[in-house]
Amino acid sequence: MTTDSAKRFRLAWFLDNHVAYDWGSPFSREHTDLWADPAFFVDLARSLERARFDYILVEDTSYVPDNHNESYDAYLTHGLAVPKLDAVSLMSFLLNATTKIGVVGTLSTTEYLPYHVARVVASLDHLSGGRAGWNIVTGISDRALQNYGQDRILEHDARYAIADEFVELVQNFWNSWDADAVVKDRERNVYVDPAKVHEINFKGEHFAARGPSVVPRPLQGKPLLSQAGGSPAGRSLAAKYADSILGIGGDPALMKEYRDDVRNRMAAGGRNPDECKVMFLGRVIVASTMAQAEEERQRRVDMILEDPSWAIALLCKDVSFDFGQFDPDDLLADIAPKVTSNGAQSLMRDVFAQPPGVTLRQYVAQDTQYADFIGTPESIADNMQDVMERVGGDGFVLTDYFLDRRGLAAVTDGLIPELRRRGLVQADYAHDMARPNLLAD
Ligand SMILES: Cc1cc2nc3c(=O)[nH]c(=O)nc-3n(C[C@H](O)[C@H](O)[C@H](O)COP(=O)(O)O)c2cc1C
Repeated sequence: MTTDSAKRFRLAWFLDNHVAYDWGSPFSREHTDLWADPAFFVDLARSLERARFDYILVEDTSYVPDNHNESYDAYLTHGLAVPKLDAVSLMSFLLNATTKIGVVGTLSTTEYLPYHVARVVASLDHLSGGRAGWNIVTGISDRALQNYGQDRILEHDARYAIADEFVELVQNFWNSWDADAVVKDRERNVYVDPAKVHEINFKGEHFAARGPSVVPRPLQGKPLLSQAGGSPAGRSLAAKYADSILGIGGDPALMKEYRDDVRNRMAAGGRNPDECKVMFLGRVIVASTMAQAEEERQRRVDMILEDPSWAIALLCKDVSFDFGQFDPDDLLADIAPKVTSNGAQSLMRDVFAQPPGVTLRQYVAQDTQYADFIGTPESIADNMQDVMERVGGDGFVLTDYFLDRRGLAAVTDGLIPELRRRGLVQADYAHDMARPNLLAD
């Protein structure tokens, strides 16, 4: 399929710091500790940079889940969500291994304080030459807060209201130094011009801060902000602040509705919708033949159909609700009336938007949060191009739960060259800094 008139799209990689990757696969036999393997993270970051991905998104949650049968067992047994590293430490490590790619770390507005986020992200931005970013999440788990001395997270929309003020204050800290505050004037013997560093004196409903920050204005001014809330409150927050909005993939009609909606929200709030890239979660299995790719997909589906406990446990964590209390062969339609959750609304809606007759076991085996890209480099390039044309989207956040070096190479050295040959992805970075590069056209 062709390409001259094709619209270029953007790519990010979702580093799902979330599973012990495919530690049981034949290709991980000598690498069962990828979650903490420095050489693997260097390989990963440099491979993605060589493939000219715009950024790496580092996932984070900070608790050992027990959402499944009120027990840690499923998570620890299968290496789900633990063991994992601290996201900021990992960001720093990935940035140090690279020179061009952006690294966007998840920092939760219910776990951090605004000054802390402002300082961490600004520091990484300086150290990396302007490549740091922040994935704004509100968190969905009481367990996370219990590691910080509190009992329960607040109600869903209240969390987003707090997040709104949180982001505003973070930006105030970043702006508390003028871009030219560090004058380094030897003749006058002035390193920082005091007139260019300002108190904030912020007094909101939830936070107050005097400022200024100790870290000068980030090199990017505003580091790259991403946000993934699918609920109305989440979409509004994303539309107000994000440079990159992350949507769940799947049905192109829903993807289009989502993109149109967040772009309308941006326009209603006075932002130019083209100032933000709406990117969809895509799962990739790249192989030399369609049959091989399909075989790998089927291997994964069969694994879950045979023992759905780990995939159900993952769903319980993602939506903060215990589906472990149901039989895997119960119909979702029968489960729906019994569900209450203060967690991820958009994902919960997806669970119950399935056709009648789908069981819990079948649902977790399909995992409909993703746009599935399964095939050869050529077929996936066709497919991606088609989805972008139908959705009008700006790109994809690709991921693979079953990550290993082989899968990564199939993407960076199989799929990407084909996308590049068609002019669908960037052949090189246009800017040194992450945000201008993402928003280049
Ligand atoms: C691509 C993507 C990445 C996400 N990464 C994280 C994460 O690292 N940590 C987290 O707590 N939530 C993460 N989320 C969840 C979102 O922040 C949000 O809670 C979820 O999309 C539900 O939002 P809603 O309640 O507005 O529907 C992610 C979501 C998506 C789609």
